[in-house]
Amino acid sequence: MIVVSGSASKKLGESFSKEVNAKHANVVIKRFPDGEAYVRIMDNLDGENVVLIQSTYPDQNAIELFLLQDAVKEFKIKKLTTVIPYFGYSRQDKKFNEGEPISARAMAKHVGMMSDEVITIDIHDKSILRFFDTKAKDISGMPQIAKYFLKLKPTVIIAPDDGASERAKTVAGIIKCRWDYLEKKRIDGEHVEITPKSVSAKGEKIAIVDDIIATGGTIIAAAKQLRQQGAEKIFAACTHGLFTGGATEKLKGVCDLVVSTDTIENSTTNVSVAKEIAKEILRS
Ligand code: R5P
Repeated sequence: MIVVSGSASKKLGESFSKEVNAKHANVVIKRFPDGEAYVRIMDNLDGENVVLIQSTYPDQNAIELFLLQDAVKEFKIKKLTTVIPYFGYSRQDKKFNEGEPISARAMAKHVGMMSDEVITIDIHDKSILRFFDTKAKDISGMPQIAKYFLKLKPTVIIAPDDGASERAKTVAGIIKCRWDYLEKKRIDGEHVEITPKSVSAKGEKIAIVDDIIATGGTIIAAAKQLRQQGAEKIFAACTHGLFTGGATEKLKGVCDLVVSTDTIENSTTNVSVAKEIAKEILRS
């Protein structure tokens, strides 16, 4: 096996290579003066099972992935497994208004076309997997987030909405504590309304877990609500930390700790999903 990674997932590619004891290919990635990408794989991939790792966010990283897939396919490889740690455009997974594309499908078709197998991590909605015209599987970063939380000993794990409840359940199962979810209503791109649920937050150490933190609006609303109910500590964790528009600072104002994984490297990245990818690759 040989591992190829794009510039969005270089560190994760290195960590994964160590986990599976495989070579991390030497890849040159540059930009032409007009901004277009140039990629070149310096190792010979003939006869190899290739694992290509690249998040498709922001847009330029998606283009890099398509170029790397094409470069990999120029060799006589055995198999190409494309791992997309953060799958951009996953939240536009249906047509909300007439005339719109199903963006997640558009991206999946392109990614799937060149791959023998695709692995995503905490994709926004598992139903997106049907859009890949190849074998596709979603794995979760939540077990690694749970391991990170073991030493902080949260007493309740909270999902900010029903959609994230499976994730909260997974984390709570590993930590062996209670879990619940909140009722969330989105008002606009940045604001959400959170309604209290039956769980009592008073005196609790709460970890809120979600797939994505973008503007931070969801977690901030949830944290404020739980704080009002008397929560003692509030930790926030997500697989994919997009942290747009100063979200990290805003979150630090309401949470005792913010943590994310290396699907998107940022200042809150303290957890690696490399072990989870390795488990899946070694299993398949
Ligand atoms: C939505 O369903 C997702 O699971 C996240 O809750 C959402 O994307 C977070 O976005 P934001 O941080 O902008 O509230």
